[in-house]
Amino acid sequence: MSASTEIRVLTTPQELFAAAAEEVVRAANEAVSQRGRFTIALSGGSTPKSLFNLLASNAKAALPWDRTFFFWGDERHVPPTDPDSNYRMVEEAMLSKVPVPPGNIFRMPAENPDAAAAAEAYEKTLRKFFQLEAGGVPRFDLILLGMGPDGHTASLFPGTAALQEKSRLVVANWVEKLKTHRLSFTLPVLNAARCVAFLVSGTDKAATLKTVLEEKASGEQYPSKLVSPTDGRLIWFVDRAAASELSTKS
Ligand code: 6PG
Repeated sequence: MSASTEIRVLTTPQELFAAAAEEVVRAANEAVSQRGRFTIALSGGSTPKSLFNLLASNAKAALPWDRTFFFWGDERHVPPTDPDSNYRMVEEAMLSKVPVPPGNIFRMPAENPDAAAAAEAYEKTLRKFFQLEAGGVPRFDLILLGMGPDGHTASLFPGTAALQEKSRLVVANWVEKLKTHRLSFTLPVLNAARCVAFLVSGTDKAATLKTVLEEKASGEQYPSKLVSPTDGRLIWFVDRAAASELSTKS
């Protein structure tokens, strides 16, 4: 576990999302005051939806939307109109309700039937936006992540090829158990961020969370264990249910 890991245990999911929203607003305003812009990569799945709703409602006034640039850490290999699309989830929960310029939104082109080509195109988008030199890695201000009951994060699933990737920024990762490709940031991108925040809620994640945070297990089996920013913060926002098996519950 990296030196600057914070485990924030909140009593309820609502408190978890409120605390995470506070951190997003804090990080956004700090980034804009120090660097003129805020770059954030979003996670998919079900957990962050309530956070996005909150940012689009209560925190609407607090975020510098015109200086905020949205990316995705992973995407399902489906068009943006598909019910499984992470882009669609965020569009409906937040982006359609806030004054963010369309040019600030960089979704993964997952409608491309060629998943590898879609990953390559998104890597090009990252390299252009962050003006990276060859071999450079983008440094996001904040990357939001979730964790699956199997310990996967972004679309880095246990035992999959993407876990070995050392130079690519975005890959099409074949996930045998889902019989599909997923588009995903690689570990070099996750671990180059200024801050990575996990949002983990519910008892179905408790055993895995204990293994990831407190037990010796391989990152190959529990990819969330491999997230450790080299020069940045790692924050776990977890609710009491997800923390129920941790030795430190508060
Ligand atoms: C995705 C996600 C994935 C997610 C976990 C947790 O596309 O599914 O990015 O990594 O964060 O699967 O999902 P839940 O929040 O739905 O439990």
